[in-house]
Amino acid sequence: MAKVSVIIPGAGSGIRFGDKQNKVFAKIAGKAMFLRTLEAFATRDDVCQTIFVASPADMEEIKENFGGHLGFMGISLVEGGLTRSQSVRNALAEVSEEAELICVHDAARPYVAQTWIDSVFAEAEKSGAALLAVPIHGTIKRADDKQSVAETLPRENFQGLWEAQTPQVFRRDILMRAYETGQDATDDAALVEALGQQVKLVPGDLRNVKVTTRKDLDFASAVLNTLPKPHESRLAHPFREDLG
Ligand code: CTP
Ligand code: MG
Repeated sequence: MAKVSVIIPGAGSGIRFGDKQNKVFAKIAGKAMFLRTLEAFATRDDVCQTIFVASPADMEEIKENFGGHLGFMGISLVEGGLTRSQSVRNALAEVSEEAELICVHDAARPYVAQTWIDSVFAEAEKSGAALLAVPIHGTIKRADDKQSVAETLPRENFQGLWEAQTPQVFRRDILMRAYETGQDATDDAALVEALGQQVKLVPGDLRNVKVTTRKDLDFASAVLNTLPKPHESRLAHPFREDLG
């Protein structure tokens, strides 16, 4: 089992969410969104390091209200930058020498099931670069500025299209090289693709929603109890053998 360092960028400001605070503090069934996301990774025994990237504007609140909890989970805190890529780049400087793979997962995707993480970690270990994504089905229309249909895209134009999600997981040297180019992109895989590296798509799940607006949070809260439970594996039960 490869050792994985996990970077959780949470240093945006959640403008489209529209709260006074960064959306990552929004509560889901009583728990802050970013804590749920962090817990999904920090509790795994293949994860050797978890780094939370926080906005300088949120640092004080995080240390004051969540410092104990983060310390207990062994989470490192890093300050984010003006773009998501800059936030990830800041965290890369802190990645442990021990890590063979680096996983990047948005703090704003709190509903990530262990089985989905298992599958993208396994593919990245095999091929060096992998992300969760969902195939785009249905009929896609382009709107005009009056929100009327301007065009229906021919099916063949979006055959083979997938919508990228996170986690996105890479061999350590590959992701480091991708970020050394100094480029920015909306996801990490795009920087790795630009190196000419093959990146594998691992079928994800629509429930792994990125919370952008409040409606996404309502959707996500509604599906919380339908997520696949961790399967019976040593990953999910690290002390199982000891228990006999
Ligand atoms: N993010 C980050 N650093 C930035 C911008 C974004 O770490 N400078 C993080 C966000 O906190 C989020 C993830 O990247 O977990 C995806 O970004 P997005 O969903 O766009 O979040 P925000 O930028 O916070 O939201 P908005 O664009 O509506 O302001
Ligand atoms: Mg944003």
